[in-house]
Amino acid sequence: MALGGKTMFLLSVFTSILMWAYLNYPGPPLSFELREWKRTGKFFSHSDFKIFFRDMNGTGRPEDVAFCVHGFPTASYDFAKVWEGLNGKFGRVIASDMLGLGFSDKPYGHNYTISEQASIIERLLKQLAVEEVHILSHDLGDTVAQELLRRFLYRQKSSSKGAQYLKIKSLCLMNGVHMIYGPADPVNPPVFVDRYRELLPQATITVLDERIGHYPHWEDPMAVLMAYFGFLEKVSPLTQPQATGET
Ligand SMILES: *[C@@H]1O[C@H](CO)[C@@H](O)[C@H](O)[C@H]1NC(C)=O
Ligand SMILES: *[C@@H]1O[C@H](CO)[C@@H](O)[C@H](O)[C@H]1NC(C)=O
Repeated sequence: MALGGKTMFLLSVFTSILMWAYLNYPGPPLSFELREWKRTGKFFSHSDFKIFFRDMNGTGRPEDVAFCVHGFPTASYDFAKVWEGLNGKFGRVIASDMLGLGFSDKPYGHNYTISEQASIIERLLKQLAVEEVHILSHDLGDTVAQELLRRFLYRQKSSSKGAQYLKIKSLCLMNGVHMIYGPADPVNPPVFVDRYRELLPQATITVLDERIGHYPHWEDPMAVLMAYFGFLEKVSPLTQPQATGET
């Protein structure tokens, strides 16, 4: 058993070294695209923490504002491939990184809650003076978006006028409930669509090509934009530009 004890000892030393190397190894440098994403964004303070966000004017009407809520464990960069398309439709497109993800602070031992993530977004939108918003969300972002919707519906019901600051004009959830769905999603397999249709017969859903999985906006950005704009047209059409009268 002497050998066994020695082997165990060597193994544990080896494991400790590996663990140390893993915890201390510097992360890979950011790609050019990620550095650009960060450079063209900003930070705002939420208590002691810094929250990264991007806020850009698009070519649509200024009152048409889109807010993108990413999923877990990724970040706002998920929306990079649909960003230009959204900018072509909306007057303003905003996305933030959740606390603990992306370029936002990641406080260790913090009690991360959906409620706090929703409050961060409400505060950001208030600070940016956004009063009406179309929300496009994905994955964990769907849960945060539903919390935002719950609060909005509550505010709408309660008569306190002061609290009427954020109006949600539409909510589009990706792979979570209009829904844009990739059937190859291992997180929400196709039986999920049947169940969803059963539960919400009034709801709309777009099922994409069978090759599309859990990240439709990354895997097929054009199809997502077409589905999303089709949905908006149905539930909450964006304001139409005035006829310019050009000749
Ligand atoms: C974005 O648009 C708003 C009004 O619609 C304007 O006040 C603001 O200056 C614009 N921002 C940029 C960076 O062009
Ligand atoms: C985290 O916050 C939730 C909601 O406020 C609370 O129920 C829970 O007890 C907290 N957990 C810890 C470890 O503080």
